[in-house]
Amino acid sequence: MNLKRLSAGLAVALLGAAAPAWADDVVTVGMILPMTGPSQSTGKQEQAAAQLFIQQHGDTVAGKKIKLEIKDDTGAADVTKRLAQELVTNDHAAALMGFGLTPLALAVAPIATEAKVPEIVTAAATAIITEKSPYIVRTSFTLPQVSAPMADWCLKNNIKKVVTIVTDYGPGVDAEKWYSETFTKGGGTIAEQIRVPLKNPDFAPFLQRVKDDAPDAVFVFVPSGFGAVFMKQFIERGLDKSGIKLIGTGDVTDDDLLADIGDAALGAVTTHHYSVAHDSPENKAFVQAFEKANNGMRPNFMAVAAYDGMALLYRALEKTKGSTDGDALIAAMKGESWMSPRGKVTIDPDTRDIVQTVYVRKVEKVDGQLYNVEFASIPDVKDPFKASKH
Ligand code: PHB
Repeated sequence: MNLKRLSAGLAVALLGAAAPAWADDVVTVGMILPMTGPSQSTGKQEQAAAQLFIQQHGDTVAGKKIKLEIKDDTGAADVTKRLAQELVTNDHAAALMGFGLTPLALAVAPIATEAKVPEIVTAAATAIITEKSPYIVRTSFTLPQVSAPMADWCLKNNIKKVVTIVTDYGPGVDAEKWYSETFTKGGGTIAEQIRVPLKNPDFAPFLQRVKDDAPDAVFVFVPSGFGAVFMKQFIERGLDKSGIKLIGTGDVTDDDLLADIGDAALGAVTTHHYSVAHDSPENKAFVQAFEKANNGMRPNFMAVAAYDGMALLYRALEKTKGSTDGDALIAAMKGESWMSPRGKVTIDPDTRDIVQTVYVRKVEKVDGQLYNVEFASIPDVKDPFKASKH
Protein backbone atom coordinates (compact mmCIF):
# COMPACT_ATOMS: atom_id res chain seq x y z
CA MET A 1 0.00 0.00 0.00
CA ASN A 2 1.51 3.32 -0.90
CA LEU A 3 1.65 6.17 1.54
CA LYS A 4 -0.98 8.18 -0.28
CA ARG A 5 -3.56 5.41 -0.06
CA LEU A 6 -2.69 4.73 3.54
CA SER A 7 -3.23 8.35 4.57
CA ALA A 8 -6.48 8.53 2.60
CA GLY A 9 -7.69 5.43 4.43
CA LEU A 10 -6.64 6.89 7.75
CA ALA A 11 -8.50 10.11 7.03
CA VAL A 12 -11.67 8.16 6.28
CA ALA A 13 -11.27 6.14 9.48
CA LEU A 14 -10.70 9.29 11.52
CA LEU A 15 -13.70 11.03 10.03
CA GLY A 16 -15.84 8.07 11.01
CA ALA A 17 -14.45 7.97 14.54
CA ALA A 18 -14.82 11.66 15.41
CA ALA A 19 -18.57 12.09 15.75
CA PRO A 20 -19.60 15.36 14.14
CA ALA A 21 -21.38 17.91 16.31
CA TRP A 22 -24.65 17.16 14.53
CA ALA A 23 -24.59 13.43 15.15
CA ASP A 24 -28.06 12.13 15.97
CA ASP A 25 -27.32 11.65 19.63
CA VAL A 26 -25.87 15.14 20.17
CA VAL A 27 -27.95 18.26 20.79
CA THR A 28 -25.91 21.39 20.12
CA VAL A 29 -27.07 24.47 22.00
CA GLY A 30 -25.60 27.66 20.58
CA MET A 31 -25.36 30.22 23.35
CA ILE A 32 -24.56 33.68 22.00
CA LEU A 33 -23.58 36.25 24.62
CA PRO A 34 -21.64 39.48 25.03
CA MET A 35 -18.52 38.10 26.74
CA THR A 36 -16.61 41.35 26.09
CA GLY A 37 -17.69 45.00 25.98
CA PRO A 38 -19.99 46.95 28.31
CA SER A 39 -22.50 44.09 28.71
CA GLN A 40 -19.88 41.46 29.52
CA SER A 41 -21.29 40.92 33.02
CA THR A 42 -24.38 39.45 31.29
CA GLY A 43 -22.17 37.06 29.34
CA LYS A 44 -20.18 36.03 32.39
CA GLN A 45 -23.32 35.47 34.50
CA GLU A 46 -25.24 33.55 31.86
CA GLN A 47 -22.36 31.32 30.85
CA ALA A 48 -21.76 30.40 34.51
CA ALA A 49 -25.45 29.66 35.08
CA ALA A 50 -25.89 27.49 31.96
CA GLN A 51 -22.78 25.51 32.86
CA LEU A 52 -23.99 25.10 36.44
CA PHE A 53 -27.32 23.75 35.22
CA ILE A 54 -25.59 21.13 33.08
CA GLN A 55 -23.19 20.24 35.89
CA GLN A 56 -26.12 19.71 38.28
CA HIS A 57 -28.50 17.92 35.89
CA GLY A 58 -26.05 15.97 33.77
CA ASP A 59 -25.20 16.48 30.10
CA THR A 60 -27.60 13.82 28.85
CA VAL A 61 -31.33 14.30 28.48
CA ALA A 62 -33.80 11.91 26.81
CA GLY A 63 -30.83 9.92 25.53
CA LYS A 64 -29.23 12.96 23.89
CA LYS A 65 -25.88 14.48 24.77
CA ILE A 66 -26.06 18.24 25.33
CA LYS A 67 -23.21 20.18 23.76
CA LEU A 68 -23.11 23.82 24.87
CA GLU A 69 -21.31 26.08 22.38
CA ILE A 70 -20.65 29.54 23.87
CA LYS A 71 -19.95 32.33 21.38
CA ASP A 72 -18.99 35.95 22.08
CA ASP A 73 -20.87 38.48 19.95
CA THR A 74 -19.18 41.42 21.74
CA GLY A 75 -22.62 43.04 21.93
CA ALA A 76 -22.68 43.80 18.16
CA ALA A 77 -25.83 42.71 16.29
CA ASP A 78 -24.08 41.90 12.99
CA VAL A 79 -21.79 39.51 14.86
CA THR A 80 -24.75 37.91 16.68
CA LYS A 81 -26.44 37.32 13.34
CA ARG A 82 -23.35 35.79 11.72
CA LEU A 83 -22.73 33.52 14.72
CA ALA A 84 -26.36 32.37 14.75
CA GLN A 85 -26.22 31.56 11.04
CA GLU A 86 -22.99 29.60 11.50
CA LEU A 87 -24.36 27.69 14.48
CA VAL A 88 -27.47 26.69 12.55
CA THR A 89 -25.75 25.88 9.25
CA ASN A 90 -22.39 24.44 10.28
CA ASP A 91 -23.08 23.04 13.76
CA HIS A 92 -26.72 22.08 13.14
CA ALA A 93 -27.59 23.72 16.48
CA ALA A 94 -30.95 22.50 17.80
CA ALA A 95 -31.48 25.67 19.84
CA LEU A 96 -30.03 29.16 20.06
CA MET A 97 -29.89 30.82 23.45
CA GLY A 98 -28.71 34.00 25.20
CA PHE A 99 -28.91 37.48 23.55
CA GLY A 100 -27.68 40.11 26.00
CA LEU A 101 -29.35 43.13 24.42
CA THR A 102 -32.56 43.70 22.46
CA PRO A 103 -30.95 44.45 19.06
CA LEU A 104 -29.00 41.19 19.34
CA ALA A 105 -32.15 39.13 19.98
CA LEU A 106 -33.99 40.87 17.12
CA ALA A 107 -31.13 40.21 14.67
CA VAL A 108 -31.57 36.44 15.10
CA ALA A 109 -35.38 36.31 14.75
CA PRO A 110 -35.39 35.80 10.93
CA ILE A 111 -32.81 33.01 11.25
CA ALA A 112 -34.90 31.22 13.90
CA THR A 113 -37.96 31.45 11.65
CA GLU A 114 -36.17 30.33 8.50
CA ALA A 115 -34.35 27.42 10.17
CA LYS A 116 -37.26 26.52 12.49
CA VAL A 117 -34.88 26.54 15.44
CA PRO A 118 -36.00 27.71 18.90
CA GLU A 119 -34.46 31.03 19.97
CA ILE A 120 -34.52 31.03 23.77
CA VAL A 121 -34.07 34.63 24.90
CA THR A 122 -32.50 34.60 28.37
CA ALA A 123 -31.66 38.32 28.66
CA ALA A 124 -33.09 40.89 26.22
CA ALA A 125 -36.37 42.28 27.58
CA THR A 126 -38.14 44.60 25.12
CA ALA A 127 -41.76 43.41 24.97
CA ILE A 128 -42.04 43.03 21.18
CA ILE A 129 -39.14 40.55 20.82
CA THR A 130 -41.29 37.40 21.12
CA GLU A 131 -43.57 38.69 18.36
CA LYS A 132 -40.73 38.68 15.83
CA SER A 133 -40.68 34.91 15.37
CA PRO A 134 -42.95 32.03 16.39
CA TYR A 135 -39.73 30.23 17.40
CA ILE A 136 -38.81 32.78 20.11
CA VAL A 137 -39.41 31.83 23.75
CA ARG A 138 -38.26 34.00 26.65
CA THR A 139 -37.15 33.10 30.18
CA SER A 140 -35.99 36.54 31.32
CA PHE A 141 -38.71 39.20 31.70
CA THR A 142 -40.19 42.19 29.91
CA LEU A 143 -39.77 45.82 30.90
CA PRO A 144 -43.54 46.50 30.93
CA GLN A 145 -43.91 43.51 33.29
CA VAL A 146 -41.68 45.09 35.96
CA SER A 147 -42.25 48.83 35.26
CA ALA A 148 -46.04 49.01 35.69
CA PRO A 149 -45.85 47.50 39.23
CA MET A 150 -43.32 50.21 40.20
CA ALA A 151 -45.88 52.88 39.28
CA ASP A 152 -48.55 51.09 41.34
CA TRP A 153 -46.21 51.07 44.33
CA CYS A 154 -45.49 54.82 43.94
CA LEU A 155 -49.20 55.65 43.78
CA LYS A 156 -49.72 53.88 47.11
CA ASN A 157 -46.67 55.43 48.76
CA ASN A 158 -47.18 59.14 48.49
CA ILE A 159 -44.91 59.68 45.49
CA LYS A 160 -46.66 62.29 43.37
CA LYS A 161 -44.13 63.83 41.01
CA VAL A 162 -41.51 61.80 39.15
CA VAL A 163 -38.80 62.32 36.52
CA THR A 164 -38.01 59.27 34.38
CA ILE A 165 -34.52 58.63 33.04
CA VAL A 166 -33.95 55.68 30.73
CA THR A 167 -31.45 54.35 28.24
CA ASP A 168 -32.65 55.33 24.77
CA TYR A 169 -33.51 52.03 23.05
CA GLY A 170 -36.20 49.33 23.17
CA PRO A 171 -36.25 48.33 26.85
CA GLY A 172 -35.78 51.93 28.06
CA VAL A 173 -38.65 53.15 25.90
CA ASP A 174 -40.83 50.28 27.22
CA ALA A 175 -39.91 51.13 30.83
CA GLU A 176 -40.61 54.84 30.33
CA LYS A 177 -43.97 54.20 28.66
CA TRP A 178 -45.32 51.58 31.07
CA TYR A 179 -44.13 53.36 34.20
CA SER A 180 -45.38 56.79 33.06
CA GLU A 181 -48.75 55.68 31.68
CA THR A 182 -49.60 53.62 34.76
CA PHE A 183 -48.47 56.42 37.06
CA THR A 184 -50.37 59.24 35.33
CA LYS A 185 -53.52 57.09 34.97
CA GLY A 186 -53.46 56.73 38.76
CA GLY A 187 -53.12 60.49 39.28
CA GLY A 188 -49.31 60.92 39.38
CA THR A 189 -47.36 63.62 37.52
CA ILE A 190 -44.39 63.02 35.25
CA ALA A 191 -42.30 66.21 35.38
CA GLU A 192 -39.90 65.16 32.63
CA GLN A 193 -38.89 62.14 30.56
CA ILE A 194 -35.17 61.91 29.88
CA ARG A 195 -33.47 59.47 27.50
CA VAL A 196 -29.72 58.84 27.53
CA PRO A 197 -27.83 57.10 24.67
CA LEU A 198 -26.84 53.44 25.09
CA LYS A 199 -23.32 54.00 23.76
CA ASN A 200 -20.94 55.82 26.14
CA PRO A 201 -23.70 57.19 28.35
CA ASP A 202 -23.03 60.38 30.28
CA PHE A 203 -25.80 60.91 32.81
CA ALA A 204 -24.28 63.98 34.51
CA PRO A 205 -25.99 66.79 32.53
CA PHE A 206 -29.34 65.00 32.76
CA LEU A 207 -28.95 64.45 36.49
CA GLN A 208 -28.53 68.20 36.97
CA ARG A 209 -31.92 68.62 35.27
CA VAL A 210 -33.45 66.01 37.57
CA LYS A 211 -32.17 68.00 40.55
CA ASP A 212 -33.65 71.23 39.20
CA ASP A 213 -37.05 69.57 38.65
CA ALA A 214 -37.08 68.59 42.34
CA PRO A 215 -39.42 65.60 41.95
CA ASP A 216 -40.32 63.20 44.77
CA ALA A 217 -38.50 60.43 42.93
CA VAL A 218 -36.44 59.63 39.85
CA PHE A 219 -37.42 56.44 38.03
CA VAL A 220 -34.46 54.80 36.31
CA PHE A 221 -33.89 52.10 33.74
CA VAL A 222 -30.37 51.29 32.58
CA PRO A 223 -29.44 47.85 31.21
CA SER A 224 -27.58 45.37 33.38
CA GLY A 225 -23.92 46.35 33.62
CA PHE A 226 -24.56 50.10 33.42
CA GLY A 227 -25.92 50.64 36.95
CA ALA A 228 -22.55 51.45 38.54
CA VAL A 229 -21.81 54.25 36.01
CA PHE A 230 -25.23 55.75 36.64
CA MET A 231 -24.93 55.55 40.43
CA LYS A 232 -21.42 57.07 40.41
CA GLN A 233 -22.73 60.14 38.61
CA PHE A 234 -25.87 60.18 40.78
CA ILE A 235 -23.60 60.52 43.84
CA GLU A 236 -21.20 63.00 42.16
CA ARG A 237 -24.16 65.30 41.43
CA GLY A 238 -25.23 65.04 45.07
CA LEU A 239 -28.56 63.42 44.23
CA ASP A 240 -28.10 60.81 46.95
CA LYS A 241 -28.35 63.67 49.49
CA SER A 242 -31.04 65.68 47.69
CA GLY A 243 -34.05 63.91 49.22
CA ILE A 244 -35.08 62.73 45.74
CA LYS A 245 -35.91 59.05 46.05
CA LEU A 246 -34.26 56.57 43.68
CA ILE A 247 -36.73 54.10 42.19
CA GLY A 248 -36.65 51.93 39.09
CA THR A 249 -36.60 48.47 37.67
CA GLY A 250 -34.10 46.16 39.35
CA ASP A 251 -31.64 46.47 36.46
CA VAL A 252 -30.01 49.53 38.08
CA THR A 253 -29.41 47.79 41.44
CA ASP A 254 -28.16 44.62 39.75
CA ASP A 255 -26.95 42.11 42.36
CA ASP A 256 -23.70 41.74 40.42
CA LEU A 257 -22.91 45.45 40.85
CA LEU A 258 -24.36 46.37 44.25
CA ALA A 259 -21.07 45.91 46.11
CA ASP A 260 -19.32 48.28 43.64
CA ILE A 261 -22.13 50.82 43.88
CA GLY A 262 -21.86 50.93 47.64
CA ASP A 263 -23.94 52.60 50.32
CA ALA A 264 -25.35 55.27 47.96
CA ALA A 265 -27.79 52.60 46.79
CA LEU A 266 -29.24 52.17 50.30
CA GLY A 267 -32.98 52.78 50.33
CA ALA A 268 -33.47 52.50 46.55
CA VAL A 269 -36.81 50.80 45.83
CA THR A 270 -37.09 48.72 42.67
CA THR A 271 -39.41 46.16 41.13
CA HIS A 272 -37.98 43.03 39.53
CA HIS A 273 -38.36 39.29 39.15
CA TYR A 274 -35.19 38.14 40.92
CA SER A 275 -33.05 39.04 43.91
CA VAL A 276 -30.14 36.94 45.13
CA ALA A 277 -31.72 37.46 48.57
CA HIS A 278 -34.99 35.72 47.55
CA ASP A 279 -35.95 33.54 50.48
CA SER A 280 -36.74 30.05 49.21
CA PRO A 281 -35.04 26.65 49.47
CA GLU A 282 -34.61 26.56 45.66
CA ASN A 283 -32.85 29.92 45.65
CA LYS A 284 -30.63 29.11 48.63
CA ALA A 285 -29.43 25.96 46.87
CA PHE A 286 -28.94 27.84 43.57
CA VAL A 287 -26.97 30.72 45.11
CA GLN A 288 -24.79 28.42 47.17
CA ALA A 289 -23.90 26.22 44.17
CA PHE A 290 -23.39 29.22 41.85
CA GLU A 291 -21.07 31.00 44.29
CA LYS A 292 -19.14 27.81 44.98
CA ALA A 293 -18.58 27.17 41.26
CA ASN A 294 -17.61 30.79 40.51
CA ASN A 295 -15.21 31.99 43.23
CA GLY A 296 -17.97 33.60 45.27
CA MET A 297 -19.54 35.55 42.38
CA ARG A 298 -23.17 36.42 43.14
CA PRO A 299 -25.74 35.32 40.60
CA ASN A 300 -27.92 38.11 39.23
CA PHE A 301 -31.22 38.16 37.27
CA MET A 302 -29.35 37.32 34.05
CA ALA A 303 -27.91 34.17 35.63
CA VAL A 304 -31.31 32.96 36.80
CA ALA A 305 -32.80 33.49 33.32
CA ALA A 306 -30.02 31.43 31.69
CA TYR A 307 -30.42 28.70 34.32
CA ASP A 308 -34.15 28.62 33.53
CA GLY A 309 -33.45 28.72 29.78
CA MET A 310 -31.53 25.45 30.18
CA ALA A 311 -34.26 24.09 32.46
CA LEU A 312 -36.86 24.85 29.78
CA LEU A 313 -34.83 23.17 27.05
CA TYR A 314 -34.28 20.05 29.18
CA ARG A 315 -37.99 19.86 30.01
CA ALA A 316 -38.91 20.26 26.33
CA LEU A 317 -36.45 17.56 25.22
CA GLU A 318 -37.89 15.20 27.82
CA LYS A 319 -41.38 15.86 26.46
CA THR A 320 -40.34 15.33 22.82
CA LYS A 321 -38.40 12.19 23.90
CA GLY A 322 -35.24 13.70 22.50
CA SER A 323 -36.67 14.96 19.20
CA THR A 324 -35.05 18.24 18.18
CA ASP A 325 -37.73 19.16 15.68
CA GLY A 326 -38.16 22.91 16.20
CA ASP A 327 -41.96 22.86 16.05
CA ALA A 328 -42.12 19.97 18.52
CA LEU A 329 -39.73 21.73 20.92
CA ILE A 330 -41.69 25.01 20.82
CA ALA A 331 -44.98 23.13 21.33
CA ALA A 332 -43.42 21.36 24.33
CA MET A 333 -42.23 24.65 25.83
CA LYS A 334 -45.63 26.35 25.65
CA GLY A 335 -47.37 26.20 29.02
CA GLU A 336 -44.39 24.63 30.82
CA SER A 337 -44.33 25.58 34.48
CA TRP A 338 -41.66 24.91 37.09
CA MET A 339 -40.14 26.15 40.33
CA SER A 340 -37.25 28.48 39.51
CA PRO A 341 -34.86 30.01 42.06
CA ARG A 342 -36.99 33.17 41.57
CA GLY A 343 -40.30 31.39 42.38
CA LYS A 344 -42.89 29.71 40.18
CA VAL A 345 -42.59 30.48 36.46
CA THR A 346 -44.76 29.53 33.47
CA ILE A 347 -44.26 29.97 29.73
CA ASP A 348 -47.41 31.71 28.51
CA PRO A 349 -48.70 29.41 25.73
CA ASP A 350 -50.16 32.38 23.83
CA THR A 351 -47.18 34.75 23.88
CA ARG A 352 -44.17 32.47 24.69
CA ASP A 353 -43.19 35.04 27.32
CA ILE A 354 -42.63 34.20 30.97
CA VAL A 355 -45.32 34.61 33.63
CA GLN A 356 -43.77 35.20 37.04
CA THR A 357 -43.92 36.97 40.40
CA VAL A 358 -42.74 40.58 40.44
CA TYR A 359 -41.20 41.63 43.75
CA VAL A 360 -40.91 45.08 45.32
CA ARG A 361 -37.48 45.39 46.95
CA LYS A 362 -35.43 47.87 48.91
CA VAL A 363 -31.62 48.05 49.04
CA GLU A 364 -30.58 47.23 52.59
CA LYS A 365 -27.49 46.05 54.38
CA VAL A 366 -27.67 42.51 55.70
CA ASP A 367 -24.63 41.12 57.55
CA GLY A 368 -22.53 43.98 56.16
CA GLN A 369 -23.50 43.39 52.50
CA LEU A 370 -25.95 45.19 50.23
CA TYR A 371 -28.99 43.29 49.01
CA ASN A 372 -32.28 43.98 47.23
CA VAL A 373 -34.52 42.85 50.09
CA GLU A 374 -37.97 41.81 48.88
CA PHE A 375 -40.87 43.22 50.93
CA ALA A 376 -43.93 42.78 48.69
CA SER A 377 -44.82 40.55 45.76
CA ILE A 378 -47.33 40.41 42.91
CA PRO A 379 -47.82 36.82 41.71
CA ASP A 380 -48.39 35.58 38.15
CA VAL A 381 -47.62 38.80 36.28
CA LYS A 382 -47.95 38.50 32.50
CA ASP A 383 -46.33 40.91 30.07
CA PRO A 384 -48.94 43.70 30.12
CA PHE A 385 -48.03 44.87 26.60
CA LYS A 386 -49.31 41.60 25.13
CA ALA A 387 -52.14 41.29 27.67
CA SER A 388 -53.36 44.75 26.54
CA LYS A 389 -53.74 43.50 22.95
CA HIS A 390 -55.63 40.27 23.68
C1 PHB B 1 -32.18 44.64 26.63
O1 PHB B 1 -31.35 45.13 25.83
O2 PHB B 1 -33.26 44.18 26.24
C2 PHB B 1 -31.86 44.62 28.08
C3 PHB B 1 -30.54 44.49 28.50
C4 PHB B 1 -30.25 44.49 29.86
C5 PHB B 1 -31.27 44.63 30.78
C6 PHB B 1 -32.59 44.75 30.36
C7 PHB B 1 -32.88 44.75 29.02
O3 PHB B 1 -30.98 44.66 32.09
